[in-house]
Amino acid sequence: MIDPAAAGRRRGVAVLGSTGSIGVSALRVLDRHRDEFDLVALVAGSNRDALDEQVARWSPRFAGLACGRGDATIASGPESLIDAATHPDVDIVVNAVVGAAGLDATLAALHAGKRVALANKESLVMAGDLVAAAAQGGGGELIPIDSEHSAVLQCLVTQGTPPTRLILTASGGPFRTWPDHRLDAATVAEALNHPTWSMGEKVTVDSATLANKALEVIEAHFLFRLGYDAIDVVVHPQSLVHALVEFPDGSVLAQMGFPSMEGPILYALTHPVRLPDSGMRRFDPVAAGSLTFESMRRDSFPAFDLGVAAGRAGGTAPAAFNAANEAAVTAFLQARIPFGRISAVIDQVLSRHRATAADSVAAVRAADSEARRFAVEAIA
Ligand SMILES: NC(=O)c1ccc[n+]([C@@H]2O[C@H](COP(=O)([O-])OP(=O)(O)OC[C@H]3O[C@@H](n4cnc5c(N)ncnc54)[C@H](OP(=O)(O)O)[C@@H]3O)[C@@H](O)[C@H]2O)c1
Repeated sequence: MIDPAAAGRRRGVAVLGSTGSIGVSALRVLDRHRDEFDLVALVAGSNRDALDEQVARWSPRFAGLACGRGDATIASGPESLIDAATHPDVDIVVNAVVGAAGLDATLAALHAGKRVALANKESLVMAGDLVAAAAQGGGGELIPIDSEHSAVLQCLVTQGTPPTRLILTASGGPFRTWPDHRLDAATVAEALNHPTWSMGEKVTVDSATLANKALEVIEAHFLFRLGYDAIDVVVHPQSLVHALVEFPDGSVLAQMGFPSMEGPILYALTHPVRLPDSGMRRFDPVAAGSLTFESMRRDSFPAFDLGVAAGRAGGTAPAAFNAANEAAVTAFLQARIPFGRISAVIDQVLSRHRATAADSVAAVRAADSEARRFAVEAIA
């Protein structure tokens, strides 16, 4: 793998999904470290106005709109994600695209030997083994942006010993304390009112159903190569401890910080080195106050167990879970199904899905398409 820092030049960065919550945070981090990083490429989905503003501010060598119309200066179409991810001047690809649309860029960047700073957890959930093979074959590396996985990596990096158990924390989402009988009728506005994190709509709804935590358990399984029995989740409403890692002697390390994605983004850019960053709020244990932990209400939020079961089933089952969840969340956001139906749609899709080996992108895409078809039927 190339080491541009050692070669005395700034590391080239592509930000995919630059107009979203993570994309904008990544640009804020890069802005504070212009002497270290060179923003080479920006790709958005369809928000042309926001992309135009970013292009005017950053003058990248490449800009694209994956789902919109381009022109002489802005490339268009899904291939623009690949062109940015494999651009010769790019060393690090921040993949902050939401959903299955991020998979091809993750694979292409790893094949091309890039570091992928991965927010797009869906890539790993859909095709964890293919992503690992792409990294191995192409010489690329995968560094997580998700705060829980960044926390695990940071706990592991100084240890010579493999962990025995990971404990990912979950805020519990906006409905952590809601009684079951109110959940079914929760509105979109209520689901989007996350208590501790400000994020894009899809991941915010995933946090409300706890499907997000299932996606993260699967992500952790592929990233850290641990069995599902060795990955636990605990609800921690303050979102100050991002993960805990247990070692064979029973010792447990935790990583902490006020909830902000800028820390994990910066770490994914610099790992294993740490750069000083004056823009980040310094941790203050007294201001943080009490830390509390509680069990997940798994019966109230069945999407979690459905997702972990799909992870355990393996093959194309996690891709089907991901696709069913994306379709159900879209339907909920468009007020076509109530909140309580999201997990029911996922359940119906998974009960029809016959998992096969996820040994090619074609197999994964086929499972994804079939699950979306099943989801349409379940929603209707
Ligand atoms: N937000 C967080 O704090 C957080 C934390 C951990 C992990 N994540 C993960 O990070 C990813 C992004 O989350 P987010 O909250 O930043 O989402 P977001 O705010 O909805 O932003 C999504 C980005 O993806 C772009 N996009 C949407 N559809 C696309 C497509 N088909 N092709 C290419 N680009 C597309 C959007 O472009 P336009 O807006 O221009 O259409 C936008 O730039 C998700 O996988 C999420 O689970 C997020």
